[in-house]
This record gives sequence, C-alpha cells and structure tokens, in this order.
Amino acid sequence: MEIKKEFPIFDDENLHYLDTAATSQKPQVVLDSIERYYKNYNGNPGRGSYKLVMDSTRIFEDSRKTVQRFLNAKEKEEIIFTKSTTESINLLAYSFGLEFINEGDEIILGITNHHANIVPWQMVAKKKKAKIKYIYLHENGQFDLDDFKYKISRRTKLVAFSAVSNVTGVVHPIDEVVEIAHNNGAYVLVDAAQALLHFPIDVLKSNIDFLAFSGHKLFAPMGIGILYGKRQLLEKMPPFLFGGDMIEFVTEQNSTFAPIPNKFEGGTQNVEGAYGLSEAINYLNGIGYDQINKIEHDLEMKALFELRNLGFVTTYHTENVERVGVIAFNVNGVHSHDVAFILDYYGVGVRSGHHCAQPLMNYLEIPSCCRASFGVYNDAGDVEKLIEGLRKVKEVFKL
Ligand SMILES: Cc1ncc(COP(=O)(O)O)c(C=O)c1O
Repeated sequence: MEIKKEFPIFDDENLHYLDTAATSQKPQVVLDSIERYYKNYNGNPGRGSYKLVMDSTRIFEDSRKTVQRFLNAKEKEEIIFTKSTTESINLLAYSFGLEFINEGDEIILGITNHHANIVPWQMVAKKKKAKIKYIYLHENGQFDLDDFKYKISRRTKLVAFSAVSNVTGVVHPIDEVVEIAHNNGAYVLVDAAQALLHFPIDVLKSNIDFLAFSGHKLFAPMGIGILYGKRQLLEKMPPFLFGGDMIEFVTEQNSTFAPIPNKFEGGTQNVEGAYGLSEAINYLNGIGYDQINKIEHDLEMKALFELRNLGFVTTYHTENVERVGVIAFNVNGVHSHDVAFILDYYGVGVRSGHHCAQPLMNYLEIPSCCRASFGVYNDAGDVEKLIEGLRKVKEVFKL
C-alpha cells in the first residue's frame, strides 16, 4: 500500500504536511494500538495483582524492551520513560546536573542545540556557578571539532549536543564527539530528537552516556519520551520526580528509593504512549531506514532544485555535509510567518520563526526562517503545492 494511505490524517487530500521535524503524523497501526490498549488492557502498572494490572505492566515492560533493542542498550533498566525529550533533559539536568556539576566546572553545548538542550543547562550553570561554552560551526554547518578540542578540558563535566540540527538538518558526528569528550573525562548527552526517524543510533557501539528522544517525532503519540543512561550513571543519580512507585520504603520522615528504572518514573505512567511508541518502532523497522532515506532525500533534492529556481527564495542548505530531509529558507524580503500563513491557504504546513534555536539563529545571523521537513509519507505533489504557494507569496507581496 502507498505509505501515505497508512496515515489517516492524509485522507484529507488537501493536506500537504511539510513539518515532520516538528511532529510526525501517526500511522493507523499506532492509532489502533492505543485503542487496543484501552479496550483490553487498561490498568495501572505495578499497582495491584489482578489481570488488568498484570497486562498493563507486561505491555509497559515489553515496550521498554522494544526501545532497548531499538537503541541497542545493554539492559532494559537503562531505558527511562518520560514525557518528552524536554523532560528527559530536565531529568538529567535536575538530577545529574545539580548533583555532579560544581562551581568552576564547564558544560559544552552544540551551538545547533534546541532550547530544550540549552535552557536546563543554563539553570544548572546558574545554580552551581558553572560555565557554558559552545561548539561552533564550519561554513558547511558541521561542528568545528578543532574549536571543540580547544574548548574542552578536564573542567568539562558534560558535552550535550543534537545529533541533527532541527534548523539546518545537518547530522553531527556522534562518535567523534563522544571520543573527544571521553578523552577529557566528560560525559555525553546526545539529543536524538531529530535523528531517530532518519538513522539508527547504537548507544553501546557509540559508547553514549545519555541519550534523549521524543516518541511523537517518530510516528508515536505525544506525551512519551525516553532517557537512556548507562546503568552505573543512572544508579548514582538522585531521583527527579518524587511520589508513587519510585520508592522502596516510606516512613513518616524518610524514604528510600526503588532501583532503576522505577526510581525515575514517579507517578502513573503513560502506558498507552509507551505501547504506541513500541508499535511506532515496529512500523519504522518494517519500512526500514533505507526506504525512508531514499524517499526523503529524493523529495529534499526536488524541493531544493525548485526552490532555487524560483529566484526570490534564499535557501540555507549547505553542500558537502551529511544531512536529513530538512530545508530552511526565506522568501527574500518577506517575514517567515507571513510566508507560512499564505502557504497554509494551500494546505501546506511549514514551520516558521526561530525554531526554538535562538542561539543558532543569532550565530547564523538569520532572524527567522521557514523550514520544510520531509517525512516518508510525503510525495512530489506536496513539493509542487509548496512551490505553487510560494509563487502566490511573490504575487501577494509584489516581489
Ligand atoms: C533537536 C530537538 N531537541 C529537542 C526538542 C524538543 O522536543 P519535545 O518538544 O518533544 O520535548 C526538539 C523539538 O523540536 C528538537 O528538534
């Protein structure tokens, strides 16, 4: 079956969704899994010993195993369910950051980081009197690893970066960054929010200390995210959210905490989200990264060619660098929000603004831009509508 037909939202043929980097659309199999869960298995995992509780516990833990295999983590206990990438990074900042980063220490961030991987570290740096430094870029948008090597030192406690920039689509080199960080005694957090829809990450092989991602960017429902951490690190970290099911014993004045992963999963969990995520991973594996990349790359190249041909559009699309299917652009002389507004009239959804990456936008000296991002369900018709809409922008603004 044509892939687009597997996503019910595209029953509306006037919808031309080019914002997969913001959130992916959901295939029928994932929608079905949520309904199946509530119709058959809904209980509160770990709270009781009757059938529905056991069913929901099994589904939750099986989903954890699916994520473990997806990331090639050594143990399923190293997979923590959260709400999102943002919550995963906050967990790490409040727990690892406030516990292990101290006065005079340094945190190195990629200049391409999303605010979700900047603001929590600013909180830690302010509270603990630590310093934040950034890895800057070559002309092609890739990390300048010499700049990174120059900045890193024994004072660096953590290097936190995006595997893929959500603005430029450039893929950053995980293995090299990890090696340089580890040679200097620093831990590494990989923000994989924009990566895992496009390529696999093997946390064991790449020797990654922490990794965060959101299900909703990967065909799964909103409200489910993952923090991966090496067991020996997670075990040393204090809890982040305190409450039910993350404890061992509670007395009137004191509590002891459950082993990982429960220590980090206080309160009732998003079981249908975890189940939906495991179905989404199975769906993604069923298509395969080769096919996903081929479809996205062909559309990206078609769109790039046509955007450049228009003559009134600036694309921020560098050559000679590994990238995923994302194109940032501006219509010359028109604000990105105005462009996106007119495109919406054609059913074309693109992101506009600063993309939650203001330090990067300042660094690149681009106040705002549009971003078209491609998913496996897009087709040539979506690109053609984008171009038609942009011609209308030219007409409206008399360019
Ligand atoms: C690279 C990157 N990191 C983090 C996030 C935040 O993800 P969420 O809003 O799902 O927490 C995003 C969202 O766009 C992102 O692109």
